[in-house]
Amino acid sequence: MGEPLVQVENLKIHFPVGRAPWWGDHRKVVHAVDDVSFDIRSGETLGLVGESGSGKTTTGRAILRRIPPTAGTIRFRGRDITGTKGEALRHLRKHMQLVFQDPYASLNPRMTVAELVAEPLVVHGIVNRVADARDRVVGLLERCGLPEEAADRYPHAFSGGQRQRVGIARALALEPEFIVADEPVSALDVSIRAQVVNLLQDLQDERGLTYLFIAHDLSVVRHISHRIAIMYAGQVVELADRDTIYHHPVHPYTEALLSSVPIPDPPVQRSRRRIVLEGEIPDPVKPPPGCRFASRCPLVEERCLEEAPPLTVRSETHRAACWVR
Ligand SMILES: Nc1ncnc2c1ncn2[C@@H]1O[C@H](COP(=O)(O)OP(=O)(O)OP(=O)(O)O)[C@@H](O)[C@H]1O
Ligand code: SF4
Ligand SMILES: [Mg+2]
Repeated sequence: MGEPLVQVENLKIHFPVGRAPWWGDHRKVVHAVDDVSFDIRSGETLGLVGESGSGKTTTGRAILRRIPPTAGTIRFRGRDITGTKGEALRHLRKHMQLVFQDPYASLNPRMTVAELVAEPLVVHGIVNRVADARDRVVGLLERCGLPEEAADRYPHAFSGGQRQRVGIARALALEPEFIVADEPVSALDVSIRAQVVNLLQDLQDERGLTYLFIAHDLSVVRHISHRIAIMYAGQVVELADRDTIYHHPVHPYTEALLSSVPIPDPPVQRSRRRIVLEGEIPDPVKPPPGCRFASRCPLVEERCLEEAPPLTVRSETHRAACWVR
């Protein structure tokens, strides 16, 4: 694994919501991402896992510079891109692409597959017309497991898995180095998820791609991730290499997520206790002063309610934020 390609430092994203009250100009603020830091090395897949609303998409979009950060720094190839604007930002975007969760909603139904895949090339002035990119489009489609005839059809003519292949071909058109794959298989049938994950993995090996792979459970990211970051209520609570996350997790939330991952070995599966989390997820408008997981944590202690646990070093490749563990 190479040098860090992406570096996120103390990233905060707060969204103002609702109207300002008549007695002041302060609006309520959703703490979507609060002080998140991690690196993604060149050629690596970092899995970003957490339940709905934990801030995964917001983090991914901020790195792609589609959402302005409230605070913090984003670096790409060592360069601070937090404030990059105009032509420089347009240029930067060629190197960073997004694969969406729902390929149906993200692909314009009135465009043919050839138009969809060629569009980024036209937008960036690499070709003048869609027709000029025909060979390139067909090559990309074939590489993503679709026949040449797919080029002239519309997205509705495809299954979910095939549509996601179109989405991947489109993301690859500009030959990016970095891809945020935002739950790319969550909307697909379980039976075809592995095929799409394998395709992404093969493309990574061939092209040296770097991925931020977002998922809401630990089963999907297992094979593709080199390292995994666990997010809870806008914060990273554990970050480690894949095997440590699966075999020696420290954070009680990671343990709970793991307990719902099916294990292909029935005796092991039977002997394992499923941890069902009770309690409320904290209000993102008013996160608690202590540990954000305290309201659902089976190990909660007095201290957890008073002070937020920092992410501390557990081993060279392992960080976790918990007072008790
Ligand atoms: N544009 C926005 N305006 C206000 N709040 C937002 C906005 N986008 C996201 N949020 C809030 O920020 C928090 C994090 O949202 P985000 O979409 O990043 O979560 P997620 O982990 O991707 O969840 P999911 O698994 O549902 O996709 C949520 O509370 C969400 O409601
Ligand atoms: S700090 Fe306390 S509440 Fe938070 S995860 Fe650890 S034990 Fe649970
Ligand atoms: Mg999301």
